[in-house]
Parts: sequence; C-alpha cells; structure tokens
Amino acid sequence: MKFICVILLILTGVTQSDEYEVIGPSAPVMTVSGEDVILPCSIKPNISAVNMRVEWIRLDLKGSIVHRYEDHKDINTDQLQSYRGRTQVFKEELEKGNTSLKLSRVQISDEGLYKCFIQSQSWSDDITVDLRVEAVGRPLVITVDGFDGSGGLRLQCESKGWNPEPDLVWLNSEGVTLTSESPDTHRDDTDGFSVKHKITVYNTDTKYHCRVRMNHHMMETEIITSSKMFHSWRSSVILISVAVVLSVIAGILITRFVRKQRDLQREEQRIQNEREPLLMTVKNVTSLLRKHAVNVTLDADSAHPRLIVSHDGKQVRCENKQLERVKNEDTGQNYTFDSRFCVAGNEGFSSGCFYYEVQVKGVDCWRVGVTRESAQRKGLFSMEHQDGYWTVCLSGHRYYAGEKHVVLSLSVNPERIGVFVDYEKGRVSFYDVESMYHIHSFTAQSFTKKLYPLLFLESSVPLIICRDLS
Ligand SMILES: *[C@@H]1O[C@H](CO)[C@@H](O)[C@H](O)[C@H]1NC(C)=O
Ligand SMILES: *[C@@H]1O[C@H](CO)[C@@H](O)[C@H](O)[C@H]1NC(C)=O
Ligand SMILES: *[C@@H]1O[C@H](CO)[C@@H](O)[C@H](O)[C@H]1NC(C)=O
Repeated sequence: MKFICVILLILTGVTQSDEYEVIGPSAPVMTVSGEDVILPCSIKPNISAVNMRVEWIRLDLKGSIVHRYEDHKDINTDQLQSYRGRTQVFKEELEKGNTSLKLSRVQISDEGLYKCFIQSQSWSDDITVDLRVEAVGRPLVITVDGFDGSGGLRLQCESKGWNPEPDLVWLNSEGVTLTSESPDTHRDDTDGFSVKHKITVYNTDTKYHCRVRMNHHMMETEIITSSKMFHSWRSSVILISVAVVLSVIAGILITRFVRKQRDLQREEQRIQNEREPLLMTVKNVTSLLRKHAVNVTLDADSAHPRLIVSHDGKQVRCENKQLERVKNEDTGQNYTFDSRFCVAGNEGFSSGCFYYEVQVKGVDCWRVGVTRESAQRKGLFSMEHQDGYWTVCLSGHRYYAGEKHVVLSLSVNPERIGVFVDYEKGRVSFYDVESMYHIHSFTAQSFTKKLYPLLFLESSVPLIICRDLS
C-alpha cells in the first residue's frame, strides 16, 4: 500500500510539473516597417523550456515555419525563405520559460498570425500572436496625364508603399475635396498598398493639393497650374510650375521632386509630340528657392561663449573651453546666448522671401532655422515656434521640428539644409538640398518682427553657411 502511494505521488508530481499553459499578448502587436520586434510568448508557471520544442508558425501562410527550436538548438532547415537570418529566440530566457521571438528588420509581408507552439515530453500548448506592421509610403508623385477633349488638364496623384490602406484625396485651393475619376488601390504582399487617383481640372493659376492619410501620418503635395502667353503669334503656353510643397503633420514628410520632375518632363515630351502648339515647362525647385538667396553672416557677439565664429562669419564650431567673452555679459547685452549653444545672423529680414543653406555634414547635433528679433536668448528657453524659433534639428540620430515633439522621418541624412522664409505668407520651410526633399514647413505663422537666421550646435565639426548658391 505504502509502495502504491509513493508511485501515485511520483506520478501526480510528474504530471503536475509537466502541465503548463502558454501565454501571450491579448492585443495585436504593432510595429513599424524596418524596426525589430519581439513577439511575446511564455510558459506559465515559468518552468524551463530548454528541453522543449518551440515552434513559431505563420498560421495564415499554411503553417509555414518561422522559427524552430528543438534538441537544445535552432533547427531552421525548413524555415520560410523570407525569414532567413531575421529570427531569434532568447537562449538565456528559455530557462525562465520565456519563448518570445525576436524578428529583425520587419517587412510589410511579416504582417499576419503567428502561432507559438510549445511541446514537452508529455504536454503541449500554444497561443496565437497577431502582428501588425505599419509602413509610411513613399512621397506622392503628381503626373500631368494630358488633356481631355474639352480642354481640361488631367492630373494624377500616386503614392506607394503604405500599410494599412491609406486615404488619398485631391483638394482644391480652398481645401474642398474633389471627386476622383478613377480611384485605384492595389495591394502587394511585399510593398503594401499603392493608391492612385485622377482628376480633370479646368482652372489655371490655381493650386491643387493631393493628400494621403494613414493613422496619424499625412503627406501632402501641391501643383500650381498657370497659363501664360508666349510667342502669341504662334502658340499658347501652359506653364506648370511645381512649387513649394508638402506639409507634415505629426511626423513624416518627404517629397521626391526629382522623380516628379522626370515624370513631368516625360509628359511634357509626350504632350509636345501630341499637340504641336502646346509646350510645358517645369520650374526647378532649387532655382526657385535660390532666387531668394541672401548673404548670411553670423554675428559673433550673439554667439554662446563656447561657440567660435570664423572671421568671415560663415562658419561656427563648438569648443570645450569657454571663450573670454565677459565683456558682453558685463554690458548686459540681451542678444548674447548665455545658455543654449546658439548664434544668430547679423542681418534680419522683415519682408519678402529669403533663403540660405547650411552645410551640416559630419555634425551630429545641430539645429538650423530662424528666430524672431527680441525672442528670449538668455537662460534655458524653449525653441518652439510660439517662442519665436522656427527650426529643425538633429539630436541623438533623430530629426525633429521645433523642440522634440514633432519627429521627422528622413530616408537619407541631409548634408546641406536649405531654409526658406516667406515673410508675408508666414511660412518657414526646410529642404534637404541634395535631393530637394521637403523636410518640414511651419505655415500660417504671423511674423511681426525681424527674423534672423539661427544656428545651434554641439560639435567641433563646424556648421558652414554655403556661398555657392548661384
Ligand atoms: C518564476 O516566477 C517567480 C515568481 O514570478 C520568480 O520568483 C522566479 O524567480 C521565476 N523563476 C525563474 C526561473 O525565472
Ligand atoms: C522575454 O525576453 C525578452 C528578451 O530579453 C524580453 O524582452 C521579454 O520582456 C521577456 N518576456 C517575459 C515575459 O519575461
Ligand atoms: C557677404 O557679406 C560680407 C559682409 O558684409 C561681405 O564681406 C561679402 O563680400 C559678402 N559676400 C557676397 C557674395 O556678397
């Protein structure tokens, strides 16, 4: 009897220690394309999974293997090709019953249902993890799609690479939504959603906006149609000038002028061939902006004591040692920055448009923009637009507009930043000069005082005001 009891105890002991529950997140796991993500999965109670089989499987892809751990090692011979080299279980965590999967460099095609299946000698259980991948699409491309029979101009707006599906709308200059003629949405497993809408417009000298929204991301670009008479004895010329663009809300914005321009040029060629008397010109954004270039020099007296301005006022770098600039502080000059590492330009502007470029190459902490005359310069002030600072910055490998509330997502690191101000329109725009990506704009500001160029840096590599803008 005693013997049987002992056997029973052992048996119950064994079964009990071997029964477990697999647990995971109740809500979908959200991530962003390009990032790494951990799909949580663990055993409760937290017994070791080192001797168990752990399988991560794509339920929505006929149970294909994403990752397998068995006999104390990863066995990925029959793993789905697209997951090669991107999956990992945490060996040291397995002991604690943590069988989470790390998936690196997430792609849109990774979105789906993942089963975490755990098997021991005598027991098995699983849970399903729902992975959602968000991807912000590529810049909008507006194409002029020819003329219709009644003299209307057909415009097409397209953007690719979104997930989930975004909303695309055309708006007129008053912000009224226009009805698209042939909305076209297309999904590709690897590239996500691409959207394309066409409209026909009859008005010249007006702006049309194309806007794409997905969750809290928005991209916008605009086209200006204008008609002018050239060679009046012969032809009427339609001038499409693709002007300043794009605005970012809560994040992300870039546009690819180069591509748009190429499309427009191709179109120009086609239309020219089709209709002899019509000719189309595309104005180059760079030359539009540089038309307003001004000769910026830095005001050494305004500079923080750790900033060293070159004799010609075209460069500034940051030194560890404080300069002897007691003189300024003693006379209490209000315009010297004493706390934030800033320097302002010598000359301020209070009308029209102005533009300057700064080389930021190799500088890992910088801020570029404009400041209002009499904005606070002493102490640790804020550099938001409501405080009289309109800037973009690089800090900790991330780009921001203003202080760090608006994160900008750039696909390349700009080497040169273009700053454009339209005083009357209340606009400050920033461009990556090389690609003419529009980085960010502050719009609908109201300027009442002079605006001065402003630089900030924490680096011994200098920021350089560019001279070659003609
Ligand atoms: C398991 O969890 C308990 C309580 O949550 C904790 O005290 C214990 O250290 C864990 N065991 C391991 C192996 O992580
Ligand atoms: C499992 O391990 C990963 C990687 O160390 C960790 O991020 C995660 O929080 C762990 N999960 C649990 C439930 O301990
Ligand atoms: C820019 O301004 C500085 C100082 O006023 C002057 O010395 C320089 O010649 C100017 N450069 C150009 C290109 O006008």
